[in-house]
Parts: sequence; structure tokens; C-alpha cells
Amino acid sequence: MAQILGALSTSHVPAIGRAIANKLQQDPYWKPYFDGWAPVHRWLAEHKPDVAVVFYNDHGLNFFLDKMPTFAIGAAPVYRNADEGWGIPQVADFAGDQDLSWHLIEQLVGEGFDLTTCQEMLVDHAVTNPLQMMYPGQAWGARIVPVCINTVQFPLPSARRCWALGDAVGRAVRAWDSDARVVMLGSGGLSHQLDGQRAGFINKDFDLAFLESLAHDPRWATRFDTRQLVEQAGTQGVELLMWLAARAALGDKAVRVHQNYHIPISNTASGLLLMTPSG
Ligand code: DHB
Ligand code: FE
Repeated sequence: MAQILGALSTSHVPAIGRAIANKLQQDPYWKPYFDGWAPVHRWLAEHKPDVAVVFYNDHGLNFFLDKMPTFAIGAAPVYRNADEGWGIPQVADFAGDQDLSWHLIEQLVGEGFDLTTCQEMLVDHAVTNPLQMMYPGQAWGARIVPVCINTVQFPLPSARRCWALGDAVGRAVRAWDSDARVVMLGSGGLSHQLDGQRAGFINKDFDLAFLESLAHDPRWATRFDTRQLVEQAGTQGVELLMWLAARAALGDKAVRVHQNYHIPISNTASGLLLMTPSG
């Protein structure tokens, strides 16, 4: 059966793509962010995942406000990045894993998750950022299965539902008849708000409480409804739902292997967390 190696969650910001393109890794502004990835690179070199299930939120590239699935999953042989309008170079195509995609679709729809299945799917910076950070040079070491959670148009799925989704994905991966080594990715957050009266809002206390909860009380965030999460983390900070889904896939017991937190990159409180299943 397939094995889940761990859950890796990270913030995403289009400016990361620009910093990589302009080789700004050692620039004083960017260094605290890029340096945070060194332990993750060592872990990846040791554990070599074959597939990454990527919980992320699309920002208007693949889905626009006219058609907005709550949960969508890729079932494509290949995923292409395209111009989002941020002026960052596009990255190489990502290979999909259709066997895992259809296994997840069968299992999750069977459990009552009404997923939108996408046999074609463009992926934006929320997918490219973490993969570029994991595999500098765009030599993608893992196939991907993108799982998109709506955080851009209300009503959003609840934290409780995102936990349930991640939990179901985790159980389905562990039941997949394959010898693949799988990593869960969560892409989004932490606190940030790009628009409105609170533009620039960051909530360090809440971010640190959330990070701590993932290690010691992982369902903690499910007590908040999505409006309370927006209040605490900002209109875009609610992207932290991706971290909750990735964490849930590990089951209740898991150990924290690495954490980095740095304010800000662009308008965002940047977090990085690597956890592995325990026992
Ligand atoms: C920024 C953050 C995001 O999550 C995003 O999707 C786009 C931009 C930012 O901080 O600039
Ligand atoms: Fe975002």
C-alpha cells in the first residue's frame, strides 16, 4: 500500500516566483525565507517522495467567479502553469498521477465529497511556488495531484469540512494499492489581507497559535467558522485551510520536524511547516 511520508505546508506569494527568476535567494529581504527551506531540502533528499497531493486555492487562473467549485481535484496527465498577470516567468509542466487521481475521486465521492473532477487544469502560483521551492531548477522530483479548495468566493467550505477532506484523502492514499511514497502539500496563508480597509493586516499571535495547534491540538482551528478565520487571519489568510487539510491527512498523531515563520514576504506572514506521521 502507498505510504504518506509527511505533510509540508507553506505560504505562497507570486513575488517568490519573481525572486527565484531574479536569483534573489541571498538578498537580505529574501534570505530568511529561502534559508528556511534548507532542512526541507535535506528531508526531501532523504525521503524522495514519488507523488505530491497539493491542497491549494486557485486565484482566478483555472476557475473564475462565474464557475467556482468548492472542492476540485485534478485528474490530468499533465498540469500547465500559465500567465496570471503578475509578470513572472511560467514554469515547466508538472506530470500528473492519474492512477492516484481516480483512486482519490472514487474514494472521496464514495464518502460523500461532491468533487469537481478536472481532466484539464491550469495551475497558478499556489502550486508552482511550493514545487519550485522543493525542487530548485524545476527538475520536479514528484508527480502531482492538485486538490483545489475555494477560498476566493463566499461561501467557503468550513475548517471542519477541510479537515474531513484531508482526513479522507489521507485514508484513501493509505488504501491505494501502490508502492508510491506520497507527500501532502498545503499551500496558502498564513495571515494576510490584500484588499479593503485592513489591507496589510497580519496577526502574528494567531499564526503562531495555529502553528502550535497543528503540532499539539490539530483540530483546534475547526472551532472557528470561516468568517472568524477571516477576522483572525485576514481575507486571504483564510488560505490556512490548506494547511489544515494537509495536516489532517496524517491522522491525529504526528510530529513536527521543521518550522519557519517570517514576517513579511510581500504582504504575507510566511510560514513553513514539515510534519511526519508518528508511530
Ligand atoms: C500575495 C499573497 C497571496 O496569497 C497571493 O495569492 C497573492 C499575493 C502577497 O502577499 O503579495
Ligand atoms: Fe494566495
